[in-house]
Amino acid sequence: MSRNAARLIGVGMTRLNPKPVPSPSRLMQQALDAALGSIPGVGLKDISGLIAIPSLAKPHFMEAHYFATQVGLLPAKHVQCRTIDTGGAGPVAALLSAQRMVAEQGLDLVAVVAGDAVKGLDSAEFLRRADATCEVDEGDVVKVENSKTMEPLPSPVIPNGYDRVAQYQMQQYGLTRSQLAAVSALMSIMASKHPYALTRTPRTVKDVLEAQLVAPVTSVLECARRADGGAALLVASTRFLERRGLDPGLGVVVVGGGEASGPLYPPSVGGITEDMFSCEEAAEQAYREAQVGVRDIDFFGLYDCFPICLIRAVEAVGLCGKGKGGLYIEHKYQEILFRLANDPNFKPQEVFPINTHGGLQAFGAPWEVPAMYNIIEAFHQLTNTAGDRQVANARRALVYGNGGIFSHSAVAILGNGR
Ligand code: CAA
Repeated sequence: MSRNAARLIGVGMTRLNPKPVPSPSRLMQQALDAALGSIPGVGLKDISGLIAIPSLAKPHFMEAHYFATQVGLLPAKHVQCRTIDTGGAGPVAALLSAQRMVAEQGLDLVAVVAGDAVKGLDSAEFLRRADATCEVDEGDVVKVENSKTMEPLPSPVIPNGYDRVAQYQMQQYGLTRSQLAAVSALMSIMASKHPYALTRTPRTVKDVLEAQLVAPVTSVLECARRADGGAALLVASTRFLERRGLDPGLGVVVVGGGEASGPLYPPSVGGITEDMFSCEEAAEQAYREAQVGVRDIDFFGLYDCFPICLIRAVEAVGLCGKGKGGLYIEHKYQEILFRLANDPNFKPQEVFPINTHGGLQAFGAPWEVPAMYNIIEAFHQLTNTAGDRQVANARRALVYGNGGIFSHSAVAILGNGR
């Protein structure tokens, strides 16, 4: 490992849905305090880089600069700030950016912060803002050869956008409605083991199918669960750790990563082609850079804002073949139910080392924050601090963040080596 290797040395998060509802910036601050508090002798003054993910509830021009100014990180000659806007992929893109700031630009300690309070918005205001993310200004439409026109998405726009992709997958690969619902049921089983998760009680496929529909093949229990919360990461150079007399093997290493993009919104179901998806490409880059394959990964933190996102993710990272994601989830769900029926102490992570915190559908989803939870859970798995959710001998983890409606993919591979 080079002396400049970047290590994720600390993580912090707030509880979800605290009352009274703090502002997104306050949530970021509380999470950053928690991350800094986890490492003796390291404080705000040590931070030389700050990356922020913008919020929906209270966006600011140059979010990172705004935050750095509020917490007193700026003015300072040595501090570099940047805001990363790749939607829900932001936290993983930010982790990769932090790694480059440390490994290539020589920064010592880079903090990544994300926080949002979308549950604190009333329903109408949340939907107005969420729907606006895909608004098309007619004056901006430029026709290029072979371009696909967007058939407007009804409100709620984001669930309907993912629903289109779910319908495409049903037509193209035979994905079934129950397999989609099994994702939500499975995520609720995983969430029930995490003390911070919003979903405390497992739900069944029947519960999911009988819940109120928000789009043709999507019920309310299959949506990212709207929440308020903040999270922070600290990425440091080994040089910094040595200088501070800290263990140079503290935390986990960022061993590789990849990113790729797709369009901001999908065309009509009939117009969707495989070209719009980018997780495959991001995962391939990440495996190549880390020089590992899917069998080397012990824990997966995969974005699951809607069932189709997780189903495509298990295919994209190579856990199953193309078009087989629905079957893969259905089998895992059935196996876990069977094993739990025979042994209530059975640990689901033994057969499903994925989203042990419950993901967006069951843990909670403060807009662009949730991929932070994938990273934080990976950190706990690799540092053997995941408690009851611990995956045995976890040495490498893959985390995936997805932005917009399959519009950006960021994948990072973490390892617990020195
Ligand atoms: N599991 C369990 N309960 C859920 C749930 C879930 N996954 N989702 C919603 N509920 C519950 C809520 O808890 C709520 O009950 P409480 O008030 O007791 O908490 C009830 O159902 C209603 O939920 P809402 O308050 O959200 O209800 P609403 O009527 O205002 O809106 C909705 C319903 C339109 C489906 C809205 O929840 C919604 O739009 N959800 C999707 C959110 C979303 O799109 N997030 C972004 C995902 S895409 C992404 O992550 C990428 C990116 O770049 C940001």
